[in-house]
Amino acid sequence: PFDLVIASSGQVVGVAADQTAAQALEAAGVFVPLSCEQGVCGTCLTPVIEGEVEHRDAFQTDAEKAAGLAFTPCCSRARGQRLVIDL
Ligand code: FES
Repeated sequence: PFDLVIASSGQVVGVAADQTAAQALEAAGVFVPLSCEQGVCGTCLTPVIEGEVEHRDAFQTDAEKAAGLAFTPCCSRARGQRLVIDL
């Protein structure tokens, strides 16, 4: 489990171990566009301001993943306890 912090509002959204970041955001009323939900299409790509991402998608390149400026909430998670996202 980890927390997502919505930068624009300060809202904190907890992501349980058995849900995706996208599911947690949706349950909290935060809109994220989704399509494949498998880390392929990039529709859900969301800018990351702070925190380390555990990338599980096949959309971003290795260099983009290493830069860590965005993540795919349909499948990727946080490595640490929280990610601040630019929503
Ligand atoms: Fe396709 Fe997330 S919805 S990569």
